[in-house]
Amino acid sequence: MNTQDIIQKKRDGKAMSAEEIGFLVRGISDGRIPDYQIAAWAMAVYFRGMTEQETSDLTLAMAYSGEVMDLSAIAGKKVDKHSTGGVGDKTTLVVIPLAAAMGVPVAKMSGRGLGHTGGTIDKLESIPGFQAERSHAQFVAQVNSIKAAVVSQTGNLVPADKRLYAIRDVTATVDSIPLIASSIMSKKIAAGAEGIVLDVKVGSGAFMKHIDEARQLAREMVQIGKGVGREVVAVISDMSQPLGYAVGNALEVDEALRLLHSGHGPADLEELSVELTARLVMLAGRYSNVETARQQTRKCLAGGAGYDKLTEMVAAQGGRLDEKDPHYGLPQAAFQVPVRADRDGYVGVVDAFQVGRTAMLLGAGRERIGDTIDPAVGVMVHKKKGDWVQEGDVMAVIYANRQQLLPTALKCLADSYRLVNMPPAAQSLIIDTVL
Ligand code: URA
Repeated sequence: MNTQDIIQKKRDGKAMSAEEIGFLVRGISDGRIPDYQIAAWAMAVYFRGMTEQETSDLTLAMAYSGEVMDLSAIAGKKVDKHSTGGVGDKTTLVVIPLAAAMGVPVAKMSGRGLGHTGGTIDKLESIPGFQAERSHAQFVAQVNSIKAAVVSQTGNLVPADKRLYAIRDVTATVDSIPLIASSIMSKKIAAGAEGIVLDVKVGSGAFMKHIDEARQLAREMVQIGKGVGREVVAVISDMSQPLGYAVGNALEVDEALRLLHSGHGPADLEELSVELTARLVMLAGRYSNVETARQQTRKCLAGGAGYDKLTEMVAAQGGRLDEKDPHYGLPQAAFQVPVRADRDGYVGVVDAFQVGRTAMLLGAGRERIGDTIDPAVGVMVHKKKGDWVQEGDVMAVIYANRQQLLPTALKCLADSYRLVNMPPAAQSLIIDTVL
């Protein structure tokens, strides 16, 4: 078997066998196959696609390319949640403590942000002292004692995906449905949870720009999970505008803490967090009816148990939140600069991709793996789709530490808004659920 023949087969639109996929994945993991052949193969997949069988074979080969977590030492049915990536998406910071406060063990491995999308580990690391790197024993002990832990992926989990993703990122081959499905599901399978809730984002700030693609991705991931005996539910949610108001690491932690503390927050963030938590606790076997699960989640949110659980989890991982400080002791940016409406009108668009890009330009995200990030900077969106604004009203505020970045960031943020004369058609936040 040789790599060139496999590339040629895919280039010509033929299906690869499980043996060929296994050979490829081994070569990606052990470095035997050079970057240029991996890139050529990824581009062939991008154009030719893969059958469901090939996607499932690729997922399994990648999942077992490194360490596979054994969570059997954690009591109860373990569940996990994953978002395909969005802007202002801090739902993990709300959902994990809520589910844990409802008695469901959540052992979560998370990633860092890349490009215009944020990552949960970067958000949590904006809390002074927070440690995302934990040994397996510490991880298991924490979930057994307080039901919740969010840690960074260990070095040896799915090494094939680590290398393949880095190559896809620089060869315009990230947004391929079978490659995304296998990348995400291989990590979820290796991370060991029995029940998985997927939040599949669709819209300008997501990898999937159209609903048909999002449905296809959701269906493929659910099928792959079920094929290996995991229970999987995918919620398809809108990512045409940022979720909530805050975009940027410490700003998002602040927003999540406030929501859990007061029981209320931005309506979209609250709605999606409740839905994902309800789906998670159902997978854990708590309720058989989704409406009951939603009601119980809302009750838990209103009672503040989620806030107590998040602060407990943060403290267990070395984080120091200052509850007397109005911003919980989170790092603050030096400058705040508003973007104002240049005329009266309705907000027709707050483009999630552009807002995410603004935050990245300010230093909240990484252009390349390994870039350092600034936890304090980002954007607070004040006006969202459908809001009425008058000329001069503040639509969004930039939080910056480096003055020289302001002109480009201000232009990028202003370009994310489009004002229109008539109220725009409302867009549902939760578009579909794939079981
Ligand atoms: N997130 C992942 O983990 N992998 C992808 O390919 C895309 C989003």
